[in-house]
Amino acid sequence: MKNKEAKTKYPIHPNLKKRWSPRAFDEKPVEKDKIRRLFEALRWTPSSYNQQPWRLIIGFKGDETYTLIMDALSSRNQSWAINAPVLIAVFGRKFQNNSEDNNKVYQFDVGQSMAYLTVQAMEENLYVHQMAGIKPEKMVENFEVPVQYKPLTAAAIGYIGDPEILPENMYDSEIAERTRFDFDEIIFSGKFGRKSSLFEK
Ligand SMILES: Cc1cc2nc3c(=O)[nH]c(=O)nc-3n(C[C@H](O)[C@H](O)[C@H](O)COP(=O)(O)O)c2cc1C
Repeated sequence: MKNKEAKTKYPIHPNLKKRWSPRAFDEKPVEKDKIRRLFEALRWTPSSYNQQPWRLIIGFKGDETYTLIMDALSSRNQSWAINAPVLIAVFGRKFQNNSEDNNKVYQFDVGQSMAYLTVQAMEENLYVHQMAGIKPEKMVENFEVPVQYKPLTAAAIGYIGDPEILPENMYDSEIAERTRFDFDEIIFSGKFGRKSSLFEK
């Protein structure tokens, strides 16, 4: 297996360094205790006004929920996610709790909750591959999602697998070098777009 760890300029937490998004998963099932710990980590994500807008549906390979999540993925994502032993569908509550006022940052909070889950997953040697490629209307239909909630993403979870199981086009990206913007392109000082001297050394 090619080393896909982040090549960092500065040292970071080992779980963050190790994390990446594979498409090849091992068929080994994931222990329920581990999954419980992933959701425990997610539960302790900070959120605006502690609104906790995240809602998730979990399916284990072989059960009906898994099939319904699979059905609501884009066809490209279906082609590799079928290897994963666990699928989750991710939803956000659009409104403040007990109110009709919009929660302006619900998607931000739900995204953050997935980051918490993902970092805890590395602690369990589990990999998470998030997917924007879903069919939202299928999610709503398959799970009878109330109107206050929006289907946002899905994610595949499992142990890392052999890239050889993937079709050729996906195999190439599975073993490709991982890339990121440089600090100068994303961290500014003084004016938007003006690089910070912080990273000169
Ligand atoms: C919100 C979100 C949506 C994504 N959607 C998809 C997707 O639909 N299909 C897919 O193959 N990868 C998807 N990805 C994975 C990204 O392509 C991947 O995170 C990115 O290329 C960086 O690679 P890394 O996670 O291995 O560092 C998504 C990731 C995130 C965070």
